[in-house]
Amino acid sequence: MIATGEEPPKPTMQPARVIIMGAAGRDFHNFNVYFRDNPAYQVVAFTATQIPNIEGRTYPASLAGELYPEGIPIHPEQQLVELIHAHSADQVVFAYSDVTHEYVMHLASEVLINGADFRLMGTGIEPVLSLGQARRSFLPIRARTDLPSSLAPFKSISIELDSSPLLLQSGRIFAIHLVVAALLMFLLHRFSLPPIEKALEQLEMTQAQLIHSEKMSALGEIYAGLTHEINNPLGIMIGKLELALKMAKERQLPADLTRDLEIVTRNGLRISELIRSLLIFSRKSTLSFTETALNHVIAEVVELVDKPYAKQHIRIESRFEPKLPYCYGSAGHLHQVFLGLLNNARDAMPQGGTITLRTYVNSHFLIAEVEDTGTGMAPDVKARIFEPFFTTKGVGKGTGLGLSVAYGIIKTHGGDITVESTPGKGSLFRLMLPIEEPRQ
Ligand SMILES: Nc1ncnc2c1ncn2[C@@H]1O[C@H](COP(=O)(O)OP(=O)(O)OP(=O)(O)O)[C@@H](O)[C@H]1O
Ligand SMILES: [Mg+2]
Repeated sequence: MIATGEEPPKPTMQPARVIIMGAAGRDFHNFNVYFRDNPAYQVVAFTATQIPNIEGRTYPASLAGELYPEGIPIHPEQQLVELIHAHSADQVVFAYSDVTHEYVMHLASEVLINGADFRLMGTGIEPVLSLGQARRSFLPIRARTDLPSSLAPFKSISIELDSSPLLLQSGRIFAIHLVVAALLMFLLHRFSLPPIEKALEQLEMTQAQLIHSEKMSALGEIYAGLTHEINNPLGIMIGKLELALKMAKERQLPADLTRDLEIVTRNGLRISELIRSLLIFSRKSTLSFTETALNHVIAEVVELVDKPYAKQHIRIESRFEPKLPYCYGSAGHLHQVFLGLLNNARDAMPQGGTITLRTYVNSHFLIAEVEDTGTGMAPDVKARIFEPFFTTKGVGKGTGLGLSVAYGIIKTHGGDITVESTPGKGSLFRLMLPIEEPRQ
């Protein structure tokens, strides 16, 4: 439930015992403007991380005001949990501005689990977020945040979660995470939008990749089982057919019989080739790895297709990083991957165009890009291109195995393939291969 315009809770008779985290200036500021002469609170300690050697000191009585004739002790942040217990703290107030969302979420849960409430202070004197009443077994969980003046007459949002006893403790902790995440999103939103958009984009991408790789590994398992079952009887059939063909030729049996046997054998071998591709996709076949010069592999493929492509008005531009480290891979299979990608690029440019090939290093990966100026892909096509037998090329033109096999090969190398595509503009396939020393 979300209610707006709620007033902050009224001070209770007993002052709430508070630990302030920060010691970077903001916390002292918060103390001075909000807690210092406030009889509703008793600040029992500060914790510090950001100013060197400040721990073990005392915030001086002269600054702390009349309520603190002894001053206030400052401890290292690592002692937070002990301090909560030693002082029976009611609240931990957090006053940083430059830490990650994840860090704050962890901290909030740790504070709550150890029995205190958790508060974030903003630039104003009011807390921008308070969570907890953990000391009453997490119930009710409340969160409240101020709203920007542009949203007047609403001044704040507060969230109360269902206090049903059926909610298990872990469920409540999860709920707290959600509330903190939601409120931090809101706070971020108040100051700048781009970080949220970027985070959401990344989240969406990660989710899509997860779904994709789960789907691929499930398909891989199915194909692995199926291909083994087909491969063995097929091998026997092809062997027998080759023998029959040999005998038919030797005994000079009628020519149409020999031709039919040839056709059956050829098609049997085609099926066997397909099965081999599926085995690579399902990563159950073994590749032999060795030190491989990626630029060299790609250049070889380019040499193969350069002339026929030129006839179709397709230009290939190679922008290779000259000092590319070796990758530990299977040159033959990588050859197959690049040939498949180049053929796809060609098919996407029936009127001609440019294929740009790039290699470079990005932290721990060798990157190879194949970019075309072709038709691009609609999102529903792009979502399915790695599925075996998915093709838009019509019967007899494409088997729909090119990319699924490429995917299997690159995954076997410990790498990955990503795709960017704009309908009408073109596509970019990006291959990542780990830079690795050959195993001894
Ligand atoms: N560069 C590209 N531009 C546009 N669409 C592409 C591109 N590469 C792949 N696709 C799409 O992905 C589909 C699957 O590609 P994949 O290479 O797996 O199979 P295919 O090319 O159709 O057949 P095969 O490679 O087995 O001959 C293609 O049919 C096409 O729709
Ligand atoms: Mg293809």
